Amino acid sequence: MRKLIIAAAALALTAPLVSQATPQSDLEHMKKYFAKKFPGVQYQDYANGVYALDKGRRVEWEAMEEFPPYEPGVEIGKSLFKKYKVGQCFKNGGIGIKQNYPYYDSKSGQVHTLEGELMACLKRNGIDTEKEKLDYGKGKFAAIAAYMAYTSRGKTIKVDVPAGKATKIYNEGKQFFYAKRGQLNFSCADCHVYNPGVMLRSMMLSTAIGQTTHWPAYRKKWEAGGTSPLHGFGTLQRRYGGCNKMVRAKDLKPKDGKQNPSYVALEYFHTYLSNGLKINAPGVRQ
Ligand code: HEC
Repeated sequence: MRKLIIAAAALALTAPLVSQATPQSDLEHMKKYFAKKFPGVQYQDYANGVYALDKGRRVEWEAMEEFPPYEPGVEIGKSLFKKYKVGQCFKNGGIGIKQNYPYYDSKSGQVHTLEGELMACLKRNGIDTEKEKLDYGKGKFAAIAAYMAYTSRGKTIKVDVPAGKATKIYNEGKQFFYAKRGQLNFSCADCHVYNPGVMLRSMMLSTAIGQTTHWPAYRKKWEAGGTSPLHGFGTLQRRYGGCNKMVRAKDLKPKDGKQNPSYVALEYFHTYLSNGLKINAPGVRQ
């Protein structure tokens, strides 16, 4: 941890200024930065997180993928997707659409995530989400979202940030990403821009580019909490909560059936950084 703190403090000053940059220039800047830092990594491989950076971990991960632990859960997600008639709320019946999320909806003036629309859909279809235990973030809900993302495998992420309010929300997400927080006073960027490849306890840090391609993901850590095939699933925003707690900052939980607007803005900015990469959800992670 000590090593990491020193490196983060030294590099914190290099965060690009929000006011001068555009989403396009942000992404170009970061692509160049990582290309220099990791010359051996193929661009598409960033979608594989730490497994793009470390050979030993990659071998373990490939072994896990031989019998994908998420498969039974994706099947359950598919049957729930049908049972709750989710397809009728989405373009193309909800199939193969994940790569376009989050997007800016000019009618409401808000950014929509796939999970946000899924929750709204379940309610619109008259499902008692509380009784059915359909919570944002995990379990059955995450399994439906994982099935939907699975049907987008191989499709290229294409998040659009038009000028105006959408750019404003993007910049809020960017600010969140670069802001120091928690008792440990770390920003997302301290770990995932300035220190990828560095060890934090037993974990190696991954790059910000590629972190959003594989969600909902299936984590061994989450799986260990129960016996159901759905236990390992969690959404990207559940992961944000874990990283915030790691630095002893607050997890911004959904409220009144809606995701926290700061996490939605963060997801918008963060997913833009994976534009051009292919969806490979659900990912398997430790
Ligand atoms: C103190 C360091 C630290 C900070 C700060 C931090 N993370 Fe993480 N994060 C980790 C570690 C460790 C992991 C697990 C290894 C990995 O994949 O990087 C991780 C994993 C992730 C993953 C999963 C990557 C994958 O491929 O599965 C995402 C997404 C993520 N972090 C996003 C964020 C965001 C967004 C923030 C800011 C709100 C943040 N992190 C702040 C340490 C940090």
